[in-house]
Amino acid sequence: MLSSIYVDGGDVAYARQGNPTWSAFEEAIGALEGGAAVAFASGIAAIAAVLGTVPIGGVVVAPADAYTGFRALLSDLSARGRLTVRPVDIADTDATLAACRGAELLWVETPTNPMLAVADLPALCAGGHERGARVAVDNTFATPLLQRPLACGADVAVHSATKFIAGHSDLLLGVAVTADGALAEALETRRTLEGAVPGPFETWLALRGLRTLGVRLRQAQATAATLAERMVPHPAVTLVRYPGLAGDPGADRARRQMDGPGAIVSFEVAGGAAAAAAACQAVRLILHATSLGGVETSMERRARQAGEEGVPSGLIRLSVGCEDAEDLWADLDAALRAAAGRAEAASA
Ligand SMILES: Cc1ncc(COP(=O)(O)O)c(C=O)c1O
Repeated sequence: MLSSIYVDGGDVAYARQGNPTWSAFEEAIGALEGGAAVAFASGIAAIAAVLGTVPIGGVVVAPADAYTGFRALLSDLSARGRLTVRPVDIADTDATLAACRGAELLWVETPTNPMLAVADLPALCAGGHERGARVAVDNTFATPLLQRPLACGADVAVHSATKFIAGHSDLLLGVAVTADGALAEALETRRTLEGAVPGPFETWLALRGLRTLGVRLRQAQATAATLAERMVPHPAVTLVRYPGLAGDPGADRARRQMDGPGAIVSFEVAGGAAAAAAACQAVRLILHATSLGGVETSMERRARQAGEEGVPSGLIRLSVGCEDAEDLWADLDAALRAAAGRAEAASA
């Protein structure tokens, strides 16, 4: 509902406290994740609200290779003495749990952005709790249709609803979901006090996008699997990371805890940064853009982003959308061949 004021005497006094469109969106996401949802202005605002529940100086265990914006926020909070951060390899369950002693919060991202590492969600939730830590999961890549962290034991699941949930690359939105009533209340309080409230129009668009999440994801995931399989033997590709590929390091875990491997594929191009950049410039149907989860397929060389220095320089993250799989393959194959040709000419 597009209003900042309400006639006196109703449930809500002012639009920073609530909005019927938020409530409708929160009800839908809450039902899918199995908890109470609190919507925010962006994914990072939802993440910041969860981090805001950690006491001053509290220890947060987090993936060393999580989404770059999340790591930037953690670095800022740590530099200002707000939190103490312990970076871990989230795919290494023993090392992650060893780091959880005395921690307030274990932050899990699975699959990770952009390396697509898969964490052992049930083991980390149980082990984190045994060591006294709350467990939060960034479920953006999987969506609640492919992975339900609360059912695996997590305390809170967060999403950049900007991505697959809204699905049309036309808004920013975030959401946090928890079955813990006190935590839901604390998150809502953070939203009201700090003002990271979602726009009602954005929330309405996301609710509309949510209606097609199932069909979009089914199509995108099937195409992602086809493209990943075809890229494995491609002469211009040296490595493909996709949890749906047999032999991928995350494949077994993904099969156990997810209802599908999703629609993001990361791959490395022979010829490193120059060849990967050239491939991104050469695509015609696929968009060369950051972000992911839209109906349109997009890709970028991740290491071009500040904070992604640890990512292999020739790694491209491909977010598969809903276009025809053969059209996408023709575009990708041609771009990879053109890039490989250029890299060969440059080294000759
Ligand atoms: C895994 C993940 N979590 C959180 C975010 C942040 O979401 P937003 O851009 O909606 O703030 C992103 C954005 O790319 C992301 O990829």
